Amino acid sequence: MVLQRLQKVIAEAGIASRRGAEKIIQEGRVTVDGNVVTKLGTKVDTFSNITVDGEPIERESLHTYLFYKPRGVVSTVKDDKGRKTVVDFFKDVPYRLYPIGRLDYDTSGLLLMTNDGELANLMMHPRNKVAKVYVAKIEGQLTPEEIKKLSSGVEIDHRKSSRAKVKVVRTDKKKKFQIVQLTIHEGHYHQVKRMFKAVGHKVIKLSRERYSFLTLESLVSGKYRELSHAEVDRLKHVD
Ligand code: URA
Repeated sequence: MVLQRLQKVIAEAGIASRRGAEKIIQEGRVTVDGNVVTKLGTKVDTFSNITVDGEPIERESLHTYLFYKPRGVVSTVKDDKGRKTVVDFFKDVPYRLYPIGRLDYDTSGLLLMTNDGELANLMMHPRNKVAKVYVAKIEGQLTPEEIKKLSSGVEIDHRKSSRAKVKVVRTDKKKKFQIVQLTIHEGHYHQVKRMFKAVGHKVIKLSRERYSFLTLESLVSGKYRELSHAEVDRLKHVD
C-alpha cells in the first residue's frame, strides 16, 4: 500500500490547490479516521476516511487505460510548445490521467494512462523490471557481434544497459535497413535509441509493442481501452 501526503489527497479531490490544502489542514479543518490532523505531510492510504469541514472528501475512483500512442504526440499532460499530448485523446474520460513513463514524441505504441498513483509508482520503480518489447527499424544491419553486444549490455553514459533480447525480424533486400525486436527491462531516457546508437545504428522508427503481459491487440493508433481489475492486479504482482 502506497501512502500519500494528506495535502496531496485533498488537492487531488479538487477541494483546493496544494497550497490551499496545506492551509486547510493547518486551520484544523481536516480529520483522518475521526481525528483532527494539523500536521503537514501526514501520510494517508486509500482506505483512510478524510473529512474537510465535516464533509467526507470524494476520492476519485481509480482507472487505468491501455493507449495506443500515435507518433507526433508528447507523453506529458501539458506541452509548453502547444503540441498534442496523450491526455488530448482522453477528452471523454472524466479522470485526471497521466502516463506511466514516457514514449518519445516520434515513438508509437503501448502506453499506460492512469490516475492510480500507487500503480504508477510501482511500475516506475527501478526495482520493478517490467519487460518491454520494442520493434525498431534501424539503418544498416546488425552483425552477429553487435547482436551479442546489445544482448549482454552496451555502455550508455558510463552505465551498462542490462541484458536484452534481440531478434532480427526482417532485413531488406538491399541491406539498407533492418527490423529488430528488442526486449528490455529498464526504461531510461531514449533507452532503445541509445542502445542501437552504441552499436552504430540509427533508429529510424520505433514502436512499443508489449508492456509486461499487455499487448496492443485489437487496438488501433490513437485508441484506448480500460484495463480490467484483474489486469491491474496482475500488473501489480508481476516481477
Ligand atoms: N526508448 C527510446 O529510445 N524511445 C522511446 O520512446 C522508448 C524507449
